[in-house]
Amino acid sequence: MCGIVGYIGNNQAPSILIDGLSKLEYRGYDSAGVAVHDGENINILKTKGRLSNLVKLVIENPLTGTLGIGHTRWATHGVPSDVNAHPHISNDNMIAVVHNGIIENYVDIKNELAAEGCVFLSDTDTEVIAHLIDKYYKECLDFEDAVFKAVNRFEGAYAIGIICKDCPDKLIAVRKGSPLVIGKGNGENYIASDIPALLNYTREVYFLEEDEVAVLTKDSVAIYDKNRNRVEREIYHVTWDIEAAEKSGYAHFMLKEINEQPKIVRETILNRVPENGDGIDLENIKLDRKDLENIDRIYMVACGTAYYAGLIGKHLIEKICRIPVISEVASEFRYSDPIIDDRTLLIVVSQSGETADTLEALRISKKNGARVLAIVNAVGSSIAREADDVFYILAGPEIAVASTKAYSAQVAAMYILACHIALELGKMTKDEFKEIKEQLYMLPSKIELILQKQDVEKKLAEKYMNVKNVFFIGRGLDYLVSKEGSLKLKEIAYLHSEAYAAGELKHGPIAMIDENTLVVAIVTQEELIEKTISNIKEVKARGAKTMAVAMKGNTKIAEVADDVIYIPRTMGILAPILANIPDQLFAYYMALNLGTDIDKPRNLAKSVTVE
Ligand code: AGP
Repeated sequence: MCGIVGYIGNNQAPSILIDGLSKLEYRGYDSAGVAVHDGENINILKTKGRLSNLVKLVIENPLTGTLGIGHTRWATHGVPSDVNAHPHISNDNMIAVVHNGIIENYVDIKNELAAEGCVFLSDTDTEVIAHLIDKYYKECLDFEDAVFKAVNRFEGAYAIGIICKDCPDKLIAVRKGSPLVIGKGNGENYIASDIPALLNYTREVYFLEEDEVAVLTKDSVAIYDKNRNRVEREIYHVTWDIEAAEKSGYAHFMLKEINEQPKIVRETILNRVPENGDGIDLENIKLDRKDLENIDRIYMVACGTAYYAGLIGKHLIEKICRIPVISEVASEFRYSDPIIDDRTLLIVVSQSGETADTLEALRISKKNGARVLAIVNAVGSSIAREADDVFYILAGPEIAVASTKAYSAQVAAMYILACHIALELGKMTKDEFKEIKEQLYMLPSKIELILQKQDVEKKLAEKYMNVKNVFFIGRGLDYLVSKEGSLKLKEIAYLHSEAYAAGELKHGPIAMIDENTLVVAIVTQEELIEKTISNIKEVKARGAKTMAVAMKGNTKIAEVADDVIYIPRTMGILAPILANIPDQLFAYYMALNLGTDIDKPRNLAKSVTVE
């Protein structure tokens, strides 16, 4: 989604704004711009396309000033264009704004302002923000009053950065439904939609909460709630390094993040499954036997990759704990009038903790009395703050749009959660847990082994780079892994791909199979191997090329599939976390061969903060 940065201090704003924007590029964008106050006037440069276009523009038309706002836009209202790019400014060049999110009632406000003579230049909803604040500013000549008055009229989800020509010593930030952090410096302060934009300058941040407005000068930060009462906010100290948000020699963030998985999975597991002990340590998460006995329905709700991790969780909780779990994508769940009461446990899964649909699913459920457990990566994110309990997966910043390490950590979290529930409810003996625990501890080194052999996926991606259609098939847990494998390929290689339950192929999709089709079969579940082998034979007989991901020692599969990627042996229920790694690598190398923008695939955003 869009990225916001803002600066007020003693240094030149343009380079700080552009540096900050470059750290937000991963969020996905199609245009960029900055507005800088030179002490007398606000000057704006903005352009369609990559940040490098903006840099060129700034070099050709140097800006000076120690107050400014910057933006990377991901188009929602109005096509990507120079004129629709942010910042937007009022007709009298008084108020300039950058905005993430959507002003849902912008048409009404636009009509009202147009009737009063306001001229609109863009097709965006954002432009009304600048004009409305300007209208109120003209009435009261108080920047803060004008912002509060305007904000009361906006409906929707947004984060806004605002500067005023008459106030060269003030930067105002507003947050409702779209994340915004404030960086506290020494004689300078910052705003940003995500922490990486600030890390070159400060590690001390405040998270703005819903409906809050922050007024920044170079020496102060004042935060107000929607009733304009001053709010005290604790500083959060960012512990991770800028290197965690940089490529460290890898060609792409995605490849770096794939290779980080042994470490991430190790940390997620070790943090909750102590070496000395015979149980799970969920720390402050309150989910003991009494809580669990009070629950009669569990929903697992998320979007995209996080949803697929949730599907593995559903399978595990049902298999190990024998409790039915309803899985649903958040965009459907929120409109499905779900049956929720105080005996419902909602588990939401989100890397960013800011996904609009997932957040809304959480809010609806809480309103109806449910308990909410969030499995989240981003510390201090909206979902983490609003949930009753948070299970942090500790994956560190995930920059590539395609989620990889967060998925593995989410799946690891699902194993931990399922074991915890089973132990609490007496559905798993200490010995059974001991066996799973031993196998869990071995997962990181097994992932390492898969990564060491990534030449295999690289060669297969060369071999299959010209296929036009890909089917990922599997049964049981393998089918669930297929869904994530297929999404990765679509997302970064722009290749048509579908995940199908292997047994369903002959009910329709098999008609599509021809010699331009690649079928990737995930075959790790011992009791289902023979069945899936039959399905591989069916597609081979119709001309498809076939590739399988199987556990070491499965020799039968090599007799059927054209190519086999072997993963180390593990328990069936733990196989998904391993079987998914070859899919990630295959998608990465396919995308590399096809020359796509791997870290920032077209049309996609890292965190989807609009519906
Ligand atoms: C994953 O590769 C995708 N970029 C996307 O499906 C993502 O998982 C989804 O938007 C959910 O995001 P979240 O985990 O931040 O909520």
